[in-house]
Amino acid sequence: VTKIGVLTSGGDAPGMNAAIRAVVRTGIYNGMEVFGIMRGYSGMIDNDIVPMHSRSVANIIQRGGTILKTARCKEFFEYEGRKKAYGNLKKLGINGLVIIGGDGSFRGAHKLSEEFDIPCIGLPGTIDKDIAGTDFTIGFDTAVNTAVEAIDKIRDTADAHDRLFIIEVMGRDAGYIALHSGIATGAENILIPERKTDIEELVNGLLEKERRRKLVNIIVVAEGDRGAEDVADIIKERIPSADTRVCVLGHIQRGGAPTCMDRLIASRMGYSAVESLIEGRHNVMIGIVNNKMHYTPLEKAVKAKQKISDDWLKIVKILAS
Ligand code: F6P
Repeated sequence: VTKIGVLTSGGDAPGMNAAIRAVVRTGIYNGMEVFGIMRGYSGMIDNDIVPMHSRSVANIIQRGGTILKTARCKEFFEYEGRKKAYGNLKKLGINGLVIIGGDGSFRGAHKLSEEFDIPCIGLPGTIDKDIAGTDFTIGFDTAVNTAVEAIDKIRDTADAHDRLFIIEVMGRDAGYIALHSGIATGAENILIPERKTDIEELVNGLLEKERRRKLVNIIVVAEGDRGAEDVADIIKERIPSADTRVCVLGHIQRGGAPTCMDRLIASRMGYSAVESLIEGRHNVMIGIVNNKMHYTPLEKAVKAKQKISDDWLKIVKILAS
């Protein structure tokens, strides 16, 4: 592998830039030519591909978003789209790819590698942490810390006014952002799609707290569970005395400077991606498991609701009583 392309695909995540920087600089260190492919697979199809130099990635490790831009590309799902994309890579002599994105991006990479025999390496970049074969994904730690900061601020108001707040966090179908940020902010309840929420139990718990005059309550709801407004409607109806407010954190969780942890894992993964291309460990997703690099065949790097142990929920119950 002598010429490699790097792209970011799917939703942006803080730390993607740190990963791009690691791929570019490790590639150049190893005598490779490195190309940046703009807007994910769209740029591959449209031939929007630019040479990258060591200086192209200066001063980006601390920046959120992605300098290569990103997109969710429908055309790449079709064989014709992939053929066109491969034609553009071939013209430039690109013979290896690093794809930073989520499971959808890996599915595309797997198909491309099978059909056109081009080695692909995936790096898990998503705030949702919903990918099998890695303990952490690039962007999760930043997103969860952003959520923690926001929830802490909301708690000030909840406390000042004796209010009940229902705070919705992102995560698509996964509850990790909710679980981690909820535990870290001492949320009284955390609703995640991995566990069926017993609304009756939730309401009874709140009524019991009201009897003890515990009026400040933070409920963190994962977007993949029922919506925050829905939960609020039920609570307002069943406990009209509660001063209830809703806050949907939304896209603030996707942006901002990556945390140290995200910069670090992105750098390790980016370095490891190029090493893998050199060593012939092709068509894998690079993960980190128990703090060691871990390689998962691309076709198995799928969306995964990793098991959430009962202990985690017990912790919520005991610590937030
Ligand atoms: O996958 C990242 C994510 O932010 C999810 O948590 C969320 O469900 C989704 O993307 C939002 O997507 P969009 O930015 O396209 O609205």
